[in-house]
Amino acid sequence: MASNTKNRHDDTVLTHAGRKPFENKGIVNPPVYHASTILFPTLEVYNNPAAHTDVFYGRRGTPTTFAFADAVTELERAHGTVLTSCGLSAVTTAVLSVTEAGSHVLMTDSVYGPSRNFMSKFLSRFGVEVEYYDPAIGSEISSLIRNTTKVIFMEAPGSWTFEMQDIPAIIKEAKKHNVITIVDNTWAGGYFFKPLEHGADMSVQAATKYIVGHSDALMGTIACNEATYKRVDEAAYLLGNSVGPDDVYLAARGMRSMGTRLRQHQENGIKVAKWLKSRPEVKQVLHPALPEDPGHEIWKRDFTGASGLFGFIMEQPSTEALANMMDHMNYFGMGFSWGGFESLLIPVDPRPIRTATNWEVEGQTMRIHIGLEDVDDLIADLEAGFERLKQA
Ligand SMILES: Cc1ncc(COP(=O)(O)O)c(C=O)c1O
Repeated sequence: MASNTKNRHDDTVLTHAGRKPFENKGIVNPPVYHASTILFPTLEVYNNPAAHTDVFYGRRGTPTTFAFADAVTELERAHGTVLTSCGLSAVTTAVLSVTEAGSHVLMTDSVYGPSRNFMSKFLSRFGVEVEYYDPAIGSEISSLIRNTTKVIFMEAPGSWTFEMQDIPAIIKEAKKHNVITIVDNTWAGGYFFKPLEHGADMSVQAATKYIVGHSDALMGTIACNEATYKRVDEAAYLLGNSVGPDDVYLAARGMRSMGTRLRQHQENGIKVAKWLKSRPEVKQVLHPALPEDPGHEIWKRDFTGASGLFGFIMEQPSTEALANMMDHMNYFGMGFSWGGFESLLIPVDPRPIRTATNWEVEGQTMRIHIGLEDVDDLIADLEAGFERLKQA
């Protein structure tokens, strides 16, 4: 096959990266190796680590894991990618790899809840201090940077609340002080946003969401620049991170169609967001692709698209009314996670979580994931749900 693959576009990357059919009898997809033990041919090779190939023990990786990691590396414009068992372990491994006792970490107040809990409830026990910052902070982040600040951890848009943040401005300040920057890039799937192109050191993803895309496997990816790759790879190994071959296969398979899926999630999501905006039950829609959203200008500047996850705020219903709406939806399931082909809807309450900022909205915040169903059916399902809300 042709070897000129430089600067290829994302849809071509998703289709071809990490595949070498003619190294495997022309078979299109990389083979799935189930391997823990890998044998050394002679005592001499066994005794000489320099003579080992990159495949020498299952936990260290196999051609199956390397192929998928290579594909993510190309998608995220990274130097190398470390795989972990789920998105949360990608977050924890990334942070652990660049902190030590005495380190100070700045984390966005709008971060995914368990990432926050890892810092506040777990890593704090080992002498790492976390401070949460207002996602709207921009270059003012410099006022929070201390001599001991090792990491700034960003996520945009925010979990549950969907605020954008000025990632390039934050990275610029971080670089002045040699602070490592990590972005949770799950919402954009590594497709609609490229943190490393903006100078971030790492882009982590819950590949569980859009890369896997089918709600059937968990996986984490840490796409690293050259400065951080070795440290992260070492940390992942020493923490005992490993990924199962069948899950890697599902992730690699999901990735091939991610561009097409994301574009459809985007189109359906924007249609539903606009419809929600027109409804009397809805006070506010939290979607950065809507021109009136406070994060719209940043989103338009830095991102090339929007995925299917966003929020809206309803007039506060009674518990009974909300149950009457939620318990009888045809297509919207109630479940944690998102990024699969199917639509989801859950009530959430960001208020008690925040510490650096107040989430002071009156009403019921909802998180919605718009899947690949026909959008008219989804709107009809929501419309019937709003009717039930009124009836109760
Ligand atoms: C933004 C974000 N990051 C990380 C995670 C964690 O991913 P996982 O569930 O695969 O551990 C999630 C899960 O919902 C998430 O929404």
